[in-house]
Amino acid sequence: MAPKEILFFELNTGAKMPSVGLGTWQSELGVVGDAVTAAIKVGYRHIDCAKLYDNEKEIGSTLKKLFSDGVVKREDLWITSKLWCADYEPEDVPKALDKTLQDLQLDYLDLYLIHWPVSMKKGSVGVKPENLTQPDIPSTWKAMEALYDSGKARAIGVSNFSSKKLGDLLEVARVPPAVNQVECHPSWQQPKLHAFCKSKGVHLSGHSPFGSPGTWEIKCEVLKNPIVNMVAEQLGKTPAQVALRWGLQMGHSALPKSSNEARIKENFDVFDWSIPEDLFAKFSEIEQERLIKGTGLFLHETFGAYKTIEELWDGEL
Ligand code: A2P
Repeated sequence: MAPKEILFFELNTGAKMPSVGLGTWQSELGVVGDAVTAAIKVGYRHIDCAKLYDNEKEIGSTLKKLFSDGVVKREDLWITSKLWCADYEPEDVPKALDKTLQDLQLDYLDLYLIHWPVSMKKGSVGVKPENLTQPDIPSTWKAMEALYDSGKARAIGVSNFSSKKLGDLLEVARVPPAVNQVECHPSWQQPKLHAFCKSKGVHLSGHSPFGSPGTWEIKCEVLKNPIVNMVAEQLGKTPAQVALRWGLQMGHSALPKSSNEARIKENFDVFDWSIPEDLFAKFSEIEQERLIKGTGLFLHETFGAYKTIEELWDGEL
């Protein structure tokens, strides 16, 4: 039986990362600050950010106010951000971190991730196929290691890496990645990647824990899945709570995005109950489908490193 209180996951750096973090992808300007405030007041201590999300400045001014009002202390928060693909040249990596720190009004990050295993033309804006270039992850990673050495990034990791791409990086890394943040939810459970990460001491953190409903062409509705709903009904919980709690019991951290105060609260109410073993076993019957595929964004016949979806995900589809 899983312990109820899964509040942290310990990383290979020894740091304890709060198990539920507020996602901020697609959290709009004018709204994201209130979402962060609501989350921290409810008890979240982990905020997941990225340069790409274009909202770090608003998050930064919100954090500054929360610190000055005495609501929370910097040292009690876990802040993650991500290096965008147009900043992968080694000389651009420290500049990108400095810009993120400036926007977030912080002097260090708890975790800094390489956002995707793809790269784009230096300084390019927008995700256009003609901006794609050949990534050199080992040299970008060396620059990430220097940030770790400097203390400005207290842990470093990657995001959206397949087992193969993570394995290739581990072969050359002096500082092994602490985290691989990937799509993970009951409809895309990633058992192979999970086992590989576990065997290498890399924590798997789950983004899009509800399958990012409403994004792009995404059709699968994780929160409408009959098994998730059956478990929710039996436990007197919501489908969202069950999806998050499933992740925690699997050993993944979860990064639910919401900009609605009631749902932010609901998504944090996952610590004083658990899914019993018989119901937990039912999740293995859920049909699997990768939802955030990167098709149309990171694949091209001529540009970049990957021509097919199989190459991007190394067959983990
Ligand atoms: P909202 O921001 O209006 O709450 P993911 O974290 O997988 O990317 O999913 C985010 C999406 O799920 C957002 O559209 C968000 O909408 C919605 N969402 C967040 N929490 C819940 C919840 N508890 N129940 C239903 N939908 C939710």
